[in-house]
Amino acid sequence: MDFKDKLYVVTGASADSDIGLAICQSLDELGARLILVGRRAQALEETVELMKNKHHVMSVFDLSQTNSIASWVKVLVEDYGAVDGLVHSASFQGYSPLRGITAKQINQYFDVNFSAALMLVSAFSKAKHFNQNASFVMIGSAAGVRGLKARTLYAASKAALSSMVQSAALELANKSIRVNCVAPAVVNGAKAEIQFKTLGETQSKALIASHPLGLSAPKDVANSVCFLLSPLSAKTTGITLPVDGGFLVG
Ligand SMILES: NC(=O)c1ccc[n+]([C@@H]2O[C@H](COP(=O)([O-])OP(=O)(O)OC[C@H]3O[C@@H](n4cnc5c(N)ncnc54)[C@H](OP(=O)(O)O)[C@@H]3O)[C@@H](O)[C@H]2O)c1
Repeated sequence: MDFKDKLYVVTGASADSDIGLAICQSLDELGARLILVGRRAQALEETVELMKNKHHVMSVFDLSQTNSIASWVKVLVEDYGAVDGLVHSASFQGYSPLRGITAKQINQYFDVNFSAALMLVSAFSKAKHFNQNASFVMIGSAAGVRGLKARTLYAASKAALSSMVQSAALELANKSIRVNCVAPAVVNGAKAEIQFKTLGETQSKALIASHPLGLSAPKDVANSVCFLLSPLSAKTTGITLPVDGGFLVG
């Protein structure tokens, strides 16, 4: 895989995001130029500092401002040119037991996990905003495929993402834009540690055991993202690719 002279937007690129950082590092190693997106400038600067190449730029933007995404993307394209692809890794994560769900919470999950993704796909697929054979990759979740207790909102927002890539893939095929989703199960890192603390020892052991190949590393997710961005997957569109250590077949 060679991404030299290719330009990608990566959302959720803050240095303390396990998966977002791994995606940036993999694309950087393969020569891509990146537009790193997140809400905290300092966390994006830390990612830039960790990169081998120094040709990356950052854009501080709150993706929950979904009404502003189209105009922000227009400015990005004016400043940096048309993109070769997009990776939407930013997300709102957490637990939402049914007894306490509020309308505000529904918006928190869906704004970033789904609505922002859809607005990004819509904006970057406009004429002159993308280069030939562009590829858009959404980071979904195994939770979007299989139910999980107390995670209704997160799971439903990720299921909406997997549905969206199917319809968007059909609609954008005539522009040769591919749209896919990568669905990790539990990934080793800070989020997994929080999850294990919440669940306690017995449930954590059971969760780990439900991944027959073991938990994925952030790099495993990044490898699949690179595959879906690259010409190696030229005929793959509209899919959700699990990176789940076998979680979904159990
Ligand atoms: N970790 C896992 O085990 C796991 C499992 C399955 C799926 N996933 C999915 O994989 C992706 C990455 O997960 P992760 O745990 O590595 O991510 P993470 O640590 O939650 O990082 C996500 C990043 O997104 C940015 N972000 C959040 N809200 C934003 C907003 N409104 N506007 C702009 N940026 C925003 C945050 O940076 P700022 O605070 O700087 O904005 C944050 O660093 C997510 O889509 C997640 O749902 C993760």
